Amino acid sequence: MPLLLILVVIFTLSCEEREKVKVKVDVKELVGRRGCPFCHDMKRKLLGPSFYEISKRYSEKDRDKIVESILKGSKNKWGDVPMPPQKVSKEEAELIAEWIFNLKRELSEGKK
Ligand code: HEC
Repeated sequence: MPLLLILVVIFTLSCEEREKVKVKVDVKELVGRRGCPFCHDMKRKLLGPSFYEISKRYSEKDRDKIVESILKGSKNKWGDVPMPPQKVSKEEAELIAEWIFNLKRELSEGKK
């Protein structure tokens, strides 16, 4: 696709949509950079539950709980293996929690 056309397409996306796309892409990358995939796959259980599995169990109202689990670690909720506290900022943990809740929408839309 010619560059000009790409620019026009990007420009015509509403601000809100652009934000959504940005958050989605960046958070997944952030999760990768913070080493979460070492124990969490999107779909398969590794040491920890898959991110889709987590998204099925929780919703927006559990935001504080999830942020706390990421920051302080978690145990006995999914099995015998505990998750150690993660080296992410509170803001990052909030973004990641939001990203996890959004995965549920992808599941219900049948994308995954
Ligand atoms: C060393 C392995 C390991 C790493 C690295 C890891 N996790 Fe976990 N995670 C686990 C395990 C094991 C559990 C299940 C803990 C339990 O049973 O409560 C878990 C559970 C979770 C849960 C569910 C918590 C709850 O309250 O139910 C979330 C959310 C989560 N991890 C997010 C992350 C994020 C985000 C990262 C990266 C910043 C990360 N994890 C890195 C092993 C890990």
